Amino acid sequence: MKTKVGSDLDYAIKLLNDEEIVAIPTETVYGLAANGLKETAIRKIFEAKGRPLTNPLILHFPNTEAILPFILELPEELKKITDKFWPGSLTVLLEKSNLVPDIITAGHQRVAVRIPNHSITLDLLSRLNFPLAAPSANPYGKISPTKSEHVLKQLAGKIPYILEGGFCNKGLESTIVGMEGNQVAIYRLGCISIEQIQKIIGYEPKLQITSENSPLTSGMVKHHYAPSTPLLFLDSDFKINNAKKTGFIFFQKDFIGVENKIILSVNGNLEEAAQNLYDALHSMDSEKLDLIYIERFPETELGRTINDRLKRATAKFEK
Ligand code: TXA
Ligand code: MG
Repeated sequence: MKTKVGSDLDYAIKLLNDEEIVAIPTETVYGLAANGLKETAIRKIFEAKGRPLTNPLILHFPNTEAILPFILELPEELKKITDKFWPGSLTVLLEKSNLVPDIITAGHQRVAVRIPNHSITLDLLSRLNFPLAAPSANPYGKISPTKSEHVLKQLAGKIPYILEGGFCNKGLESTIVGMEGNQVAIYRLGCISIEQIQKIIGYEPKLQITSENSPLTSGMVKHHYAPSTPLLFLDSDFKINNAKKTGFIFFQKDFIGVENKIILSVNGNLEEAAQNLYDALHSMDSEKLDLIYIERFPETELGRTINDRLKRATAKFEK
């Protein structure tokens, strides 16, 4: 199959209506979308990504009214958060109605829903009469795409069309929230920080993000978001090994004077670093290096999300 890249919204709509899969831009990362109500279409997503069927998918909608038939209720605590952040980088787990196919939730009672904040995709969603199921548009376990060329590099030949939407301006996946009893819990750190959610609900949300044995959400799997080139944290005991062709990714400044490097935000801005992170990993991964080192981030706001992704990305390369 030849993969095309373009801005033809009508063509994307035709493919989706025909139960084909299309990569779509969002403000977080590119998604691999299909009709979220048709099992045959949804199965094509799992196949193209090599993703296990036990891993549930997020449904994307153009507005809150469109979500209502697919859920039983939106609890007050969560409504406060969605009122603030939708359209945006927030995914909410809610009790599902019978209209949601089991393959979407992998048999769970809750469905993950989101209203993305990208004008092209909001336009697309409002012109369809079904929600779009869309995981990140990368092969299972690999780095998420923040540019159409990342999708093309990783999924060429496996999907018919990539809808061009530029460089995703957030660059990290959505934050996943839901209720645990009568308290808000965070299931995946994302581009809305714990601090931002705490500010709205008035207490510290429970964190349910690390689980190696029961990966309820794929973002919880220990080895994830990984480049093909070995990636390690740049720690204080680091020594330059001249026998190895090495790349470096720094947050704000190069503090060891090396050549092959990317600086994520010269002004030390966490949002800017977040936007550039996956692009830096993709481009270093294309350089045929032996090793990539990346600096740890401060454990605050988006720094915490970045460290979470890097811990998973480095896990399989640790000794
Ligand atoms: O920013 C994002 O959320 C992007 C864009 C495309 O919207 N999507 C994304 O999807 O990151 P994905 O499939 O790569 O990650 C979604 C996460 C997975 O960890 C999945 O297991 C979890 O959400 N998830 C989805 N439905 C769930 C459910 N019903 N219960 C628990 N976890 C769920
Ligand atoms: Mg993903």
